[in-house]
Amino acid sequence: MRVLVTGGAGYIGSHIVLELMELGHEIIIVDDMEKGNEANLFPENEFIKGEIQDPEILKKAFAKKVDAVFHFAAWKAAGESMTDPLKYTMNNLNGTFTLLNAMIQYGCQYIVFSSSAAVYGAPKYLPIDENHPLQPENYYGYTKLCIEENLEWFDKLKGLKSARLRYFNAAGYDPKGRIKGIEKTPANLLPIIMEAAAGIRKGFEIFGNDYETEDGTCVRDYIHVSDLAKAHVLALDYIMAKKESLTVNLGSESGYSVKEMADLSEKVVGKQIPHKTGPRRLGDPAKLLASSKKARQVLNWTPIYSDAETLLSSMWNLYKNL
Ligand code: UFG
Repeated sequence: MRVLVTGGAGYIGSHIVLELMELGHEIIIVDDMEKGNEANLFPENEFIKGEIQDPEILKKAFAKKVDAVFHFAAWKAAGESMTDPLKYTMNNLNGTFTLLNAMIQYGCQYIVFSSSAAVYGAPKYLPIDENHPLQPENYYGYTKLCIEENLEWFDKLKGLKSARLRYFNAAGYDPKGRIKGIEKTPANLLPIIMEAAAGIRKGFEIFGNDYETEDGTCVRDYIHVSDLAKAHVLALDYIMAKKESLTVNLGSESGYSVKEMADLSEKVVGKQIPHKTGPRRLGDPAKLLASSKKARQVLNWTPIYSDAETLLSSMWNLYKNL
């Protein structure tokens, strides 16, 4: 198959590219390289540098028949989306609509969409399944929900089949070490801890220790990016075989607190990592936990790298050499 991966030089996109390469697909990557990393571009794949908002770039990408699209090109910092929403309107919404338009124009019927648990907002119950109310608490989450809803319409109106994959806390790096470029300017806990461990930053801060959890710090569901990658190819197989769209959560179904992750990181890297405890970050729920029952049943998907130590080791293997 010939597949287009938008954002294919980025953190999650590059791991899906690896999975697709293992399966022998012909791959074309569109990435504007703002967050993408040169080191994660593989010479055997076709690469077009540019924005998905640019129809001329998409014209090049669809010059030869594309069988399916994996769509990762988007901003993903929830905090930033509240202070600079238009940045998210343009890239996440406008970019996706331009892409969908091109798919219809050039006759491509299948898209795997990188969505987020941010579509749920503050949890009303745990674990969060796909029937949980959809009330995003930040603009980033809203852009993901808006696209999911439009994908529903494009299915009804144009027969476009989509897999909308709602990730929980994506983390980790390729266990085989093939990804060499780290995420640029990370805003998430684990890459920040790793940067502190590697001396790229002085230390890190735990945002609040007075939550109603066992140790007072927030609990999250971390899922290894290589497990996510596997789910993407299974999801594409599903929508192509069944000719129906799909929405699923992707999480490990196990929760770790910020403090547990900090302690385990020190164990994995074998030294103390400077950190202090600060105030809560606005908008953080105490606990998030996925139900991935649907993905397990429908896709026959099982995470294999997502226990905390495997996940952290896969990160440290990269960061320790920086
Ligand atoms: N945290 C710190 N210090 C930091 C960074 C984060 O203590 O320097 C804490 C946060 O307060 C939170 C936890 O670590 O309690 C995880 O925070 P992240 O920023 O890594 O991730 P979030 O849980 O806020 O959000 C992530 C994705 C969202 C997704 C969500 C779903 O960024 O897109 O997981 O679980 F929706």
